[in-house]
Amino acid sequence: MTRKGIILAGGRGTRLYPVTLGVTKCLLPIYDKPLIYYSISTLMLSDIRDVLIITTPEDSKIYARLLGDGSEWGINISYDVQPKPEGIAQALIIGEKFLCNRSCALILADNIFHGNGLSEKLSKISKNNKNTVFTYTVDDPSRFGVCEVDENNMVISLEEKPIDSISNQAVTGLYFYDNEVSEIAKTIVPSLRGELEITDVNIEYMKAKKLYSEPLKNEYKWIDAGTVDSLMDACSYVRNIEKNEGIKISCPEEISYRKGWISSEMLQKLADNYDNDYGKYIKKLIS
Ligand code: G1P
Repeated sequence: MTRKGIILAGGRGTRLYPVTLGVTKCLLPIYDKPLIYYSISTLMLSDIRDVLIITTPEDSKIYARLLGDGSEWGINISYDVQPKPEGIAQALIIGEKFLCNRSCALILADNIFHGNGLSEKLSKISKNNKNTVFTYTVDDPSRFGVCEVDENNMVISLEEKPIDSISNQAVTGLYFYDNEVSEIAKTIVPSLRGELEITDVNIEYMKAKKLYSEPLKNEYKWIDAGTVDSLMDACSYVRNIEKNEGIKISCPEEISYRKGWISSEMLQKLADNYDNDYGKYIKKLIS
């Protein structure tokens, strides 16, 4: 059975104030599309077609207005809320009913992944049963969860935002889990910052020797677009690649069409919605 996907778009985006005082972070533009398009695309590239988006109670309607039920992209999108920002792992408890005992992928809505071969990699990992985190080499590990792995890429140590880091391998905001994850999330307790930490869930899998790391090496780009600078970096990165290579990064319409989830007639209809370069790009895919 295929995995289900959960996108966590909770939180108030306080690191981006005053930008996010009036608008929710994941609707901000990353060059030519809203930030949330990137995480949805990552799940779609992982062959996931059942998606739950978890937002704050105030923002739920705005996401539904933008994305609807997903049928235009050949996927099913449903919505739930996280009343307070009580941690990433809480998404796995909120999403328990939606998951219906299926394995899943969880992604943070402000994480952007790109690179040649990413689609094949994600699709392959999504099909296997391993619990997997994706790691990326960073200069500032104290901003992230970091881990160490053994020669078989099994995770052997994990720490959330360490002051003196044991490694420069950040754990990115994309996690693949088996069907036990909601039960595990229910057993963990809030951290000092009052959150159910995803790192604590990962530590439980690590202790059971059931957590693997998939390193995203130089050919991949990962951006956690949660700060003013990383948001700007993401915009320039996407703009450069799209302008130079004439492609689009994380275009859900394109992914859906290439996967055969929507017909060319449906794609044409989507293209007709836009009288701009985005629409032209989609239209060109048909020919
Ligand atoms: C969260 C996780 C952290 C992970 C990061 C990736 O950090 O807690 O382990 O490395 O996402 O984006 P937060 O966004 O809560 O600071």
